[in-house]
Amino acid sequence: MEGFNLKNTFFSCITIIVLILSMLFFYEPAQNLLCSFAIFERFLINTPRVCSLFDTTRLSRYKGVDGGKIYLSILGIVFDVTEGRRFYGPGGSYSGFSGRDASRSFITGLFDEENLTDHVSDMDPNDLIGLDTWINTYKKKYKEIGKLIGRYYDSSGKETDYSKLVFEKIQSSKMAKVAKNEEMARYPSCNIEYVQENQKSKVWCTKLSGGIQRNWIGVPRKLQSLDENGKLSIRCACVQLDTLSKTELMHINEYEDCDVNATTCYVKIS
Ligand code: HEM
Repeated sequence: MEGFNLKNTFFSCITIIVLILSMLFFYEPAQNLLCSFAIFERFLINTPRVCSLFDTTRLSRYKGVDGGKIYLSILGIVFDVTEGRRFYGPGGSYSGFSGRDASRSFITGLFDEENLTDHVSDMDPNDLIGLDTWINTYKKKYKEIGKLIGRYYDSSGKETDYSKLVFEKIQSSKMAKVAKNEEMARYPSCNIEYVQENQKSKVWCTKLSGGIQRNWIGVPRKLQSLDENGKLSIRCACVQLDTLSKTELMHINEYEDCDVNATTCYVKIS
């Protein structure tokens, strides 16, 4: 009877251990619960996949104190930046980024309480592109080790609506930037110089005006285009007359008192 109980207890223990181990390796919330205890984390953190969801308290332990590891988060993505200790370690110029998500500081370059936050959705969409660039830089240089539970990822590691909004803004800004670059290549800006004597601006085209190197010069025209904030504005652009379509011509106007084929004009710019 005693032998039977002992056998039973032994197999029950084995079953419990197997269950715990499988939960640990296959069920992420269980892993993360264990990882929130420093003693387990120390053993598990170097195991791929395990302990990949951080809460803010756990992340805050990784500031590189006493030669320890350094982690930081950008838009909820956690990186191991221990190799960059000279930047992120105690006393380093960028130690403010360590052990937290300070995405806003990545844009502003400021490390006060107002900026050491992961809240960025109110920022200029063009500036948000900078965060995407940082994420790509970190992916190349450091190891991505997990996600931070909070504004960008929920407790099961799923992207939040806030995160989707920020990434959508980044995506549309990137597309707008590509469109703007294409516009600038097709209609490079004119050179502009204010001439005091006749109180007019000299606008002229060259093969390098607008910083666009090309094999044509073009003539100055008033071009209606969208500015960085999506507002309609008028700028002086150099255009190749013989390549313009009817639709393009609807957004392009001649300058008054300037010959249609002149590459230099003196115009009033309001
Ligand atoms: C928004 C402002 C800024 C932010 C968020 C920022 C952030 C950073 C970060 C995170 C690093 C470390 C990169 C790595 O891990 O490889 C870094 C490196 C560096 N930053 Fe900045 N920085 C900013 C502005 C500046 C400015 C204005 C200067 C110059 C006056 C500067 C000079 C440097 C230098 C020299 C390095 C070291 C580069 C190297 O040795 O690889 N940073 N910066």
